[in-house]
Amino acid sequence: MSEQPLTGKSTGFDYPAWDEELDGETLKQSMQVYYDERASEYVDWFLRTGLYDRPETNEGFLAGIRQLEQELGAFGEGRILEIACGIGWWTSLLAQSGHDVVALDYGPRMLTECQKRLTLNNVQARLIRASAYSLPFATNSIDCCFFGFFFSHVPHEDVVPFLSEVERVVRPGGHVCIFDSTLPPLDFVETEVQRRPLRDGSIHPALKVYYGEKGLAQVLEPFAENLTIRKIEGLFITARFQTKA
Ligand SMILES: C[S@@+](CC[C@H](N)C(=O)[O-])C[C@H]1O[C@@H](n2cnc3c(N)ncnc32)[C@H](O)[C@@H]1O
Repeated sequence: MSEQPLTGKSTGFDYPAWDEELDGETLKQSMQVYYDERASEYVDWFLRTGLYDRPETNEGFLAGIRQLEQELGAFGEGRILEIACGIGWWTSLLAQSGHDVVALDYGPRMLTECQKRLTLNNVQARLIRASAYSLPFATNSIDCCFFGFFFSHVPHEDVVPFLSEVERVVRPGGHVCIFDSTLPPLDFVETEVQRRPLRDGSIHPALKVYYGEKGLAQVLEPFAENLTIRKIEGLFITARFQTKA
């Protein structure tokens, strides 16, 4: 995969491009601030309301979300780790299965929203504030791992360290499930720095690395056995694999 500059690039599919130079560390920190400030309005993304109401894609988007929910409802056994759980849309589903779910996120307000959603759905999961890049779990202590819409925010240089950290905590032969956004015609990788608005009018830079099937296979294959990747409604991509035994 080629390195690309972290500025001034966007397909305009979802958001316009951020047009100032930003180094990787500034972007990573800005992402954490942006998402935590977005916590109380994040549900709009799932519902296609407010800033995320896009008539041209709403129908496919909502149909795709329903398919993802079905897929996750059938995922997991034993001790399940969710990385970057956000407001807990997926956490609630994982917890509904009655499995032992532990979910982490870096944003305190995201974790508050997540707890609210768990309570609302009358399900339980253990929530932890931690970085996805340094997982506070013992080696081989997790049976299954899920992360939704986080991998596309992992800078290229952090992809291998991040996947190595996932591989460390998940037992050999454990199951991993990834959901993310993609672009309809994309096969490989498209890296953007986007201008992301919030309801209060503030604008935040966000790194978004879209993967197509071939691009995602290329980065996951070194860590994966029985890898399956598929696109859903052209807007989402899922990957399932087992960690190497
Ligand atoms: C696009 S949101 C996805 C949230 C959730 N998985 C979902 O699909 O609704 C990305 C999430 O990553 C979290 N995040 C960003 N950087 C992080 C980091 N270094 N460690 C853990 N979580 C992080 C944000 O707080 C945010 O909740």
